[in-house]
Amino acid sequence: MGKSQLKGTVKIGGSKNASLPIMAASLLTDSECRIHKVPDLKDIRTMIGILECLGKTIVFDNGTLIINSKKNKSFVAPYRLVRTMRASFCCLGPLLAKRTKAKVALPGGCVIGPRPVDLHIKGLRQLGAQISIEKGYCLAQAKRLEGANIYLGGVFGSSVLATANVLMAATLAEAETLIEHAACEPEIESLANFLKKMGAQIKGEGTPTLKIKGVKSLSGCEFEVIPDRIEAGTFIAASLATKSSLNLQGADASHLRSVIDTAKRIGADINIDGNSSISVKPAKRLNPVNITTLPYPGFPTDLQAQFMACLCLADGISLITEKIYPDRFMHVAELNRMGASVQRNGPYAIIEGKHELFGAEVMASDLRASAALVIAALSAKGRTQVARVYHIDRGYEKIEDKLKKLGAKIERRKQ
Ligand code: UD1
Repeated sequence: MGKSQLKGTVKIGGSKNASLPIMAASLLTDSECRIHKVPDLKDIRTMIGILECLGKTIVFDNGTLIINSKKNKSFVAPYRLVRTMRASFCCLGPLLAKRTKAKVALPGGCVIGPRPVDLHIKGLRQLGAQISIEKGYCLAQAKRLEGANIYLGGVFGSSVLATANVLMAATLAEAETLIEHAACEPEIESLANFLKKMGAQIKGEGTPTLKIKGVKSLSGCEFEVIPDRIEAGTFIAASLATKSSLNLQGADASHLRSVIDTAKRIGADINIDGNSSISVKPAKRLNPVNITTLPYPGFPTDLQAQFMACLCLADGISLITEKIYPDRFMHVAELNRMGASVQRNGPYAIIEGKHELFGAEVMASDLRASAALVIAALSAKGRTQVARVYHIDRGYEKIEDKLKKLGAKIERRKQ
């Protein structure tokens, strides 16, 4: 990869983080679910594998998932699949609600820091589930779940997938459930809309208070996944770092307010055309800014690394405060190997902007860090080789094709 000037239009795909819990929600019914605009990613393939283990048949063709049920249904999500993707833990709630018991492997540690599941378990216990941890698995059972008032806030605020798990379970619970301090992320709103199409009774999606009136059963439905706000934000960061004008087609600007505000503060001119196109024109010089990652509608932690790559090239000192995953800074050392000057201190990173970065051999540690290294490489002088780039395939569909079409000098080599 080398220094590249990008230009043109890039099409933003369907959201990975919206697709995964929606796929899990198909466990709440035996009828057919058709889900459109699903990105073809490694994480989606992993979730397909898990659903197949749990008794679903799945056809995935041209962005559409057609999910049906086999006669024989299991209630065990095995460690071999769960360990590769933490989001698989959100099968627990729907399995329990529909099949009265569930055995889902506990996801292990993660390179971005500790990722507990206490809120998932607390919420499901409050719905009446008996939960135990045995030999690395979470075992849950309940003849019928019962609605409850559940406060789901944790030390780091709301939890996206704990909200998804408890929300899905509550749709089939007796009586009414109130979830307070629910996650407000668009992916949760999208999940609620999917569940409503299945016949669930939900109010308050997109707010911290969700009210769910349990129903006896849910039906299949047809649904379209929302655009991926993290993919869109990644291209905004790429536009800023390479000082290239880009048009993002199919992006939903209403999900990107904090990101657009940050990009404007850095010096971009951003135009929003309706709700499906965003054009980004960066200034010649990037302003340093302070960024704090927060639950939605705050700045997303999933874009912290990519924006750090931009700020390495700003005219001055920026401060990033990571309030969701205080250890999510594996990319700092790699950016510094490219000539950046970033100092990490606990949940803070102080970034002294440089005139230029230089190509180097670097190593991707996780999905979003790998995107940050690609952005840094496209703005750096000389050639960069990113090892372990397979991380990027978990969350970005055809990333090198999309970048190549925009003029990037990029190629993938077998490692
Ligand atoms: C989701 C996203 C992930 C994103 C994250 C935060 C998916 C598939 N993944 O992950 O890309 O980075 O939201 O926006 O949608 N926590 C607890 N106890 C729990 C659960 C979480 O303390 O039981 C903490 C976490 O350690 C973290 C914070 O809550 O500090 C937020 O995490 P959470 O929202 O749960 O992340 P995920 O839903 O796993």
